[in-house]
Amino acid sequence: MNKILENIKNRRSIRRYVEDQIKDEELDMIIEAAIYAPTGNNDQAWHFTIIQNKEMIDYLNVEAKKIMANITENLPDDWFSINEINGTAKKVGIMGRSERIHIFHHAPTVIIISGKKDATSPLPDCCAATQNILLAAESLDIGSCWIGIARCSFENQDNIKKLGIPEGYKPYYAVSLGYKASNKNKAPKRNRDVVNNIK
Ligand SMILES: Cc1cc2nc3c(=O)[nH]c(=O)nc-3n(C[C@H](O)[C@H](O)[C@H](O)COP(=O)(O)O)c2cc1C
Repeated sequence: MNKILENIKNRRSIRRYVEDQIKDEELDMIIEAAIYAPTGNNDQAWHFTIIQNKEMIDYLNVEAKKIMANITENLPDDWFSINEINGTAKKVGIMGRSERIHIFHHAPTVIIISGKKDATSPLPDCCAATQNILLAAESLDIGSCWIGIARCSFENQDNIKKLGIPEGYKPYYAVSLGYKASNKNKAPKRNRDVVNNIK
């Protein structure tokens, strides 16, 4: 298998990190990979907020958990096209109320990926950049996890300003990054019955 395909298959969501910070050169390479993702209309209308300040990461975790704790029956309307998926809302509520949960998994680096609201396709653009971040990290043997629940950190709009996210941009996702403390995650079983081929 070539290195790119191997990298794609080896990447796992890593939820345990060592305390040591990743190197600036590594972070630069990861951001470089992000900005080489494709964008609708070549808008490149994204913004990346790098957070390596533990107090700020912990603050955003607490802010998110305040919102999560109050979610019991339904997720906010704009979250998913189907409101309740396999008890997801209940799980989010339980996570919000659990002392043990840190939404960024105590990672030393967090990147917030924001898209310009009036661009052609900000959400898919940010998704493409996010995946590039994960794959670049894996290629450097750095652990990563896509953090969708980070949106709860920004229900309080003041936090968008606090992070210096530009006016008109919406934070869609976060990625946690750090050297892996555990590399034993097995890939969740992939459903293969998802293809048809018209020849
Ligand atoms: C849109 C999106 C949101 C996600 N949000 C979270 C999250 O908030 N917290 C988390 O620990 N993992 C999150 N994940 C990671 C998934 O749980 C993970 O990718 C999935 O279980 C498959 O495992 P793998 O990444 O090891 O292949 C998210 C993934 C995606 C694509």
